[in-house]
Amino acid sequence: MNNIVFPKEFLWGGASSASQAEGGYDADGRGLSISDMHPYRKMEHSNDNMKIEVSSKELMEYMNNEEKYYFPKRKGVDFFNRYKEDIALFAEMGFKVYRLSIAWTRIFPLGDEEEPNESGLAFYDKVFDELEKYGIEPLVTITHYEMPIHLVKKYNGFESRQAIGDYVKFAKVIFNRYKKRVKYWIPFNELNMMLTSPYTCGGVICDASKYNGNEKQIKYQATHHQLVASALATKAAREIMPGAKIGCMIARLETYAATSKPEDQLQALKEEQINTFYPEVLIRGRYPQYMYRYFEENSINIEMSPEDSDILNNNTADFIAFSYYMTYLASADPKHIATDSGSLVGALKNPYLEMTEWDWPIDPIGLRITLNRLYDKFQVPLFIVENGLGANDDVSEDGKIHDSYRIDYLKKHIEQVGEAIKDGVEVMGYTTWGTTDFISCGTSQMSKRYGFVYVDQDNFGNGTQKRIKKDSFYWYKKVIESNGNIL
Ligand code: BG6
Repeated sequence: MNNIVFPKEFLWGGASSASQAEGGYDADGRGLSISDMHPYRKMEHSNDNMKIEVSSKELMEYMNNEEKYYFPKRKGVDFFNRYKEDIALFAEMGFKVYRLSIAWTRIFPLGDEEEPNESGLAFYDKVFDELEKYGIEPLVTITHYEMPIHLVKKYNGFESRQAIGDYVKFAKVIFNRYKKRVKYWIPFNELNMMLTSPYTCGGVICDASKYNGNEKQIKYQATHHQLVASALATKAAREIMPGAKIGCMIARLETYAATSKPEDQLQALKEEQINTFYPEVLIRGRYPQYMYRYFEENSINIEMSPEDSDILNNNTADFIAFSYYMTYLASADPKHIATDSGSLVGALKNPYLEMTEWDWPIDPIGLRITLNRLYDKFQVPLFIVENGLGANDDVSEDGKIHDSYRIDYLKKHIEQVGEAIKDGVEVMGYTTWGTTDFISCGTSQMSKRYGFVYVDQDNFGNGTQKRIKKDSFYWYKKVIESNGNIL
């Protein structure tokens, strides 16, 4: 027992995405999405990961020679057929909330059709029925790295303003269909990932041939389009579903200065600004001055339509959702300044932190710091919608999965959420990444497992897909039952 008091209505649960869990990539007329184009590549080193970007040359190669590759996200872990079994397991753990995304290409297979695909819509009716049966609240990410591939080919994803219209049409269709069943919505997963992974985040192929020596130009233009699309979705949500709660989501990159040197401190501040610029726009409704300066200094000219500032200003979000996996170090030394592209994992290593098997620094205290910082700055409720440990799990001789390392990781992070609540931070809920095991986003591996439920499947899709409860399953059930009192 501990003395942490989580609010009575605290939303405990787990999170997933359609592209990593569902599979059924061609069922009932579903089209292909950007995530269906991430082949599995055998990796020499566990940290040889997060290379999820796809160049136009690679995309052509995958499209023309599909049979040469294995695309794990197309298979997922078959949530598409096993959703009843999986949701029953979430209910057994006591989930109050389940975060899922709606596969854009199930609803609009190409993305630019006039009419939606009825069987795609019907699938989520069944999923929501099942959640309702157990009293589990859905938290829906409208799109979680799932743009139709057709829109990448047609106009390079969110680089084009046309993407706003296609996205908002999709959002309106699902709002109208599910307005009575879904209260919590997140328009985009991790908006700021546009800076590291433009293809994955917004269907933007960022080959050198596409920009004129300034990669940032294309990334920030696409960002602007996603911000406007997000505000327009918020506007539509308010009209269609009064009472709905709309979030804005970032991958939280909590950054410490590498030293007490003022230049390093300033660099940490600048990196913080780049990270919080997204909620600045979507919570406060305007671009902050520091970004205009940044654009000027980096020769970035964003094309904005005259109506954009009103759209942003009049349709702000209700809460900030974020994923939290690790913290970063900032240094003013030019050889360490983070470039906008490449690995999510920072180049500088914090000597005080242990690493996961995939070399992600583990920093539970950073979660308390981040909750306090975001709340101090924005004064809106916060929702931790991803946090978890990617690990290789083994089935022991007794047929069980003894994942004490995952329990330890989650326990330490939840403790810090409790501390932040004591500090006065308004935290709406906590959804772990993931629920069952499913395909890793960054590496397309199955062996990088995050779930409470083991799925018998390997990196090449072999296995029975049988679900086995891990030790962490029973542990999390107690955590939820005791409202965070028994960790
Ligand atoms: C988040 C994404 O950035 O990180 C998830 O929203 C992803 O989709 C998660 O799975 C963990 O990353 P990975 O690469 O280990 O799956």
